[in-house]
Amino acid sequence: MLPVILRTERLELSVPVEDDIDPIFRACQDPDIQKWTTVPVPYRRVDASTFVSSVVGQGWRSGDSLTWGIRRSGELVGVIDLHDVADRGAEIGYWLGRQWRGEGLLREAARAVIDFAFSAPPHGLALERLAWRAGLGNVDSARVAQALGFRFEGCGRKDLVQRGARSDSWSAGMLAAEDRSPVDWPSLPGGAGGPAPAPR
Ligand SMILES: CC(C)(COP(=O)(O)OP(=O)(O)OC[C@H]1O[C@@H](n2cnc3c(N)ncnc32)[C@H](O)[C@@H]1OP(=O)(O)O)[C@@H](O)C(=O)NCCC(=O)NCCS
Repeated sequence: MLPVILRTERLELSVPVEDDIDPIFRACQDPDIQKWTTVPVPYRRVDASTFVSSVVGQGWRSGDSLTWGIRRSGELVGVIDLHDVADRGAEIGYWLGRQWRGEGLLREAARAVIDFAFSAPPHGLALERLAWRAGLGNVDSARVAQALGFRFEGCGRKDLVQRGARSDSWSAGMLAAEDRSPVDWPSLPGGAGGPAPAPR
């Protein structure tokens, strides 16, 4: 499919391009991005370059992985994607550069992606279900997912694969027909009491 541009109050989401290689390379030096996502470690400039010049384009062409750069005032602040798009389902993934956290930018971007995922064509993918998974203990990501309205579904044993190693996960889901008001999540193992306090 052709790349789609999404707009929100503060952000524009569009396909990463060559000018984004250096910002992505710099952002992905962040230890939290390396700890909680599947980016290569160490993260070299060629990794950002390969990501932008081939991985992203292949995903859009096949339609099974749709990646957006999150931009505020033209500056790339993060990346968000829908991957494993198949059979009217997909999984959401995201990161924000460290200096842009704490302003609600990720949840603003994610709401636009979720609207796109569930909207009927031509404005969306008409998915039935979105999944979220994170490494066990990733409270920052869990707080985002809870705020977006994902329902906690459980802990997956060794169901995440990160750089060839398996680890446990938290998982949550959201259905197209579901109310997206945040609901409480249980206190989560490994999460210092879980993602509470309640989201804004
Ligand atoms: C997960 C991650 C994207 C969350 O970033 P974030 O900035 O905390 O997420 P949000 O955009 O939802 O912002 C929420 C924060 O902004 C604050 N905020 C400020 N203004 C806000 C607004 N207008 N609306 C909502 N929240 C606002 C919230 O209070 C919250 O801050 P707090 O955590 O101190 O309470 C980020 O920590 C990250 O990139 N981590 C590393 C990679 C990663 O783990 N990716 C996920 C893999 S599953």
